[in-house]
Amino acid sequence: HFASVEMTPGDPILGLTEAFVADKRPGKVNLGVGIYYDETGRIPVLRAVKEIEQKLAAESLPRGYLPIDGLPAYTQATQKLVFGPESPLLAAGRVATSQTIGGSGALRVGADLLKKALPNAKIAISSPSWENHRVVFTAAGFDVVEYAYYDAATHGLNFPGMLADLDKLEPGTVVLLHACCHNPTGVDLTVDQWKQVVALVKDRNLLPFIDMAYQGFDKGIDDDAAAVRLFAESGIESFIVANSYSKSFSLYGERVGALSIVAANRDEALRVQSLVKRIIRSIYSSPSTHGGALVAGVLNSAELRALWESELAGMRERIHAMRAGMVEKLAAQGAPQFSFIQKQAGMFSYSGLSKAQVDRLREEHAIYAIGTGRICVAALNRANLDNVVSAVATVIR
Ligand code: LMR
Repeated sequence: HFASVEMTPGDPILGLTEAFVADKRPGKVNLGVGIYYDETGRIPVLRAVKEIEQKLAAESLPRGYLPIDGLPAYTQATQKLVFGPESPLLAAGRVATSQTIGGSGALRVGADLLKKALPNAKIAISSPSWENHRVVFTAAGFDVVEYAYYDAATHGLNFPGMLADLDKLEPGTVVLLHACCHNPTGVDLTVDQWKQVVALVKDRNLLPFIDMAYQGFDKGIDDDAAAVRLFAESGIESFIVANSYSKSFSLYGERVGALSIVAANRDEALRVQSLVKRIIRSIYSSPSTHGGALVAGVLNSAELRALWESELAGMRERIHAMRAGMVEKLAAQGAPQFSFIQKQAGMFSYSGLSKAQVDRLREEHAIYAIGTGRICVAALNRANLDNVVSAVATVIR
């Protein structure tokens, strides 16, 4: 039956982790996948998560099915975190939120919804974007186009190019935007630039689909949600947000994300949610209980929420310190041209390293990065930084 199936190329990100795991060399470093590692090189289990987990384990609650759109305590807490607790959109009942299988699940369910609601719409993603954006939207039947974003010459944003490309899109086109900590480049918009994008998107009647996978990983929970809040205030009729707790709660494997659709009014939101539920039921029926219960338990307890916020701040401060350390040490090794790494935000940096240099890092130094030159600075620590910096300094010579 499967004789005609050909070998499909491995995933550029998760496939690299498979190679990393198989690598026997001591001192290997995985700067490939977007995972935050702590100072000891381990994926942290946050104390707030540990506490709620112990409480839930002691209660040992039965594991019935969750509703199709997830745990209400989770979706309600998510709405407040994403839109702000005082959001008029929430008060007006305009937001339909579902718990999803990670942020990727939110993207796919959102894509399927859009394909049903707007069968002829195209989607525009940034150039470049997270590799899986194209994969998810293509799988949902979309034509994917790109808008200018990264400027390789400055390692920053090509803002005029971005505005010009967005301005050319047909009305009704879906525009995928990264709320913060742009994956893969680490290059974000300023609040002022967001205001211009919001005005253009509204004016051109585009439909924003905001991917917020790193809320709290650059400046803070509210600052990192600036794009969402600006769209909310703009009076735009509808937009979509996919968010994830993989990084902010260090719960990668629990697959905790959410899809929020902002509709024109309460009635429309209810109708949209009924369609979202039909879509989820047709793919995986309902989400899993554990991760959602952990996040809801932390967000709905004043004490654990405060603890989580301080732990989240600790993660972003460590990332900032690693960026600064890398820039300083590279400069000391005669490579001052990497100062842009400190201006980029979040887990990732488009380092400017070529595919050949990335190959040398892996082959000669057991340091894994994505072929595009993307490195995960959140995997650096004081123990591996010198090694990484010397290896980079070697391969660029
Ligand atoms: C990444 O970009 O490395 C992360 O978002 C993990 C993934 O699923 O690709």
